[in-house]
Amino acid sequence: MATILTDTSRTFSEYLLIPRLTRAGQGVDTVNLASPLGVVEQNRLSRFSVNIPVVSACMQSVSGADLSIALARQGGLSFVFCSQPIDSQVEMVRQVKAHKAGFVLSDSNVQPSTTLAQLIELMRRTGHSTVPVTDDGSATGKLRGLITDKDFWEYEDDLSRPVEAHMTPMSDVIFGSDGISLREANRLLHQHKKECLPILDADGRLTSLVFKKDYEDHRLNPLELLDESKRLCVGAAINTHDYRDRVPALIEAGADAFCFDSSDGFTEYQFEGIRWIREQYGEGPIIGGGNVVSAEGFDYLVEEGGVDFLKVGMGGGSICITREQKGVGRGQASALLDVVERRDAYFEETGRYIPICSDGGLANDTQIVIALSMGADFVMMGRYFAMTEESPTPKTSINGQMYKPYWGEGTQRAQNWQRYSDGMASRKMLFEEGVDAYVPLVGPVSEVLETTLYKLRSTMVNVGADTLAQFRERAILTLVSEQSVVEGGTSTVFQFSTTRDAEEGRWGGAR
Ligand code: IMP
Repeated sequence: MATILTDTSRTFSEYLLIPRLTRAGQGVDTVNLASPLGVVEQNRLSRFSVNIPVVSACMQSVSGADLSIALARQGGLSFVFCSQPIDSQVEMVRQVKAHKAGFVLSDSNVQPSTTLAQLIELMRRTGHSTVPVTDDGSATGKLRGLITDKDFWEYEDDLSRPVEAHMTPMSDVIFGSDGISLREANRLLHQHKKECLPILDADGRLTSLVFKKDYEDHRLNPLELLDESKRLCVGAAINTHDYRDRVPALIEAGADAFCFDSSDGFTEYQFEGIRWIREQYGEGPIIGGGNVVSAEGFDYLVEEGGVDFLKVGMGGGSICITREQKGVGRGQASALLDVVERRDAYFEETGRYIPICSDGGLANDTQIVIALSMGADFVMMGRYFAMTEESPTPKTSINGQMYKPYWGEGTQRAQNWQRYSDGMASRKMLFEEGVDAYVPLVGPVSEVLETTLYKLRSTMVNVGADTLAQFRERAILTLVSEQSVVEGGTSTVFQFSTTRDAEEGRWGGAR
């Protein structure tokens, strides 16, 4: 007969934190959100940590190069999706590693003969107010001058005139030479009171631009996640089918961490994949395993397999229909608590601390906070990032509101058969485990994270915690009744505002 667990499968929204003593001097500014991704051996630092406990999901509609750059700049990590050919995944990883913070390839350029009317149209379309003028109008052509929106008057000047009649000509352009350091480029901007510094190679061709606003932005992002060579960090998803080819190519491209992307990682296929990487590369690479939802899965992938971190979650994702389709899964809170309990016991037994990632189903900021208080070291999110400006999908207007497409890896659209198949070569998806949907556009990654992390820090202060480790240790959670959920909302007042969702931290859109 089957074993029936006596506990109920529970979700994050069924729990609340009890406040604990906040010490004098504690505040949101004193909270440290760094979290390990690599296993922590006793009395040693983890081989790799994130500066904020947030990573983006291994999904086509989430983790492309732009999102990876934006998230690393905030201190988190993306796992570039593996449901694409090895070459294109490698190219995305390379783009992130090649992104020199501060040096950008110019994406709006004109020729000397371009008319002011055409320039204005370009400026409106791209939102850029400074445009390089190159001989062929390309981002790497010979620089002829610079034109900004202050160099002409739209309603006074003859808009059929060419840009070269209004631009700052090369004789007056302040520029830097290719190879210049960012510090030196910023010094030139400061010294000459400029907003934009073109960088030219020995032939006078444009290679990149440095903006004053990026310097200011950099100062505002002190948590940027950088490797030893000061390049942004990026993770890469891998599967159990082609890791022998994919992992070497990704290591070559500079990926900082790997994560098996599987709806069910409690398999011998994943075990073999982990062992293969360890045999080839030793303890060097950071490897995440999963997903698991039980202590039994933890023991298999950690004790026997040797992963660095473990991902927990099955069936909770916003686009996920696995539980309905197959009858497997577990309430995310129950799954997390079970695995965390085993992780803590394993730490007591061996002195090895295994970071746990809570993956999927986080529907608002409160649930992120609860997941971290329950013992997750960091969270992985799909929908949260799909809704940002930097996700790889195009914006779409529906009834006057901007949306972005968001689809599961288990859809026909994603064609990610590797994530769901059993390791055998049955490359056919007989049924879907995810849906194809739209989510509202909420803004840039930096803005949404700012609010989320401020709330997290604020709750940690309520609990008297300065670090995430203290947060887990000090957290006391209580189960809530349906009536106390009603009590927790506003009551007996009329609300005329439509901003309530935003105020309550709901990310919008039906789940
Ligand atoms: P979300 O943050 O709730 O949107 O969940 C994202 C997570 O859902 C991912 O990190 C995956 O673990 C999981 N996931 C991605 N695609 C699918 C799918 O098609 N079906 C089920 N789960 C999925």
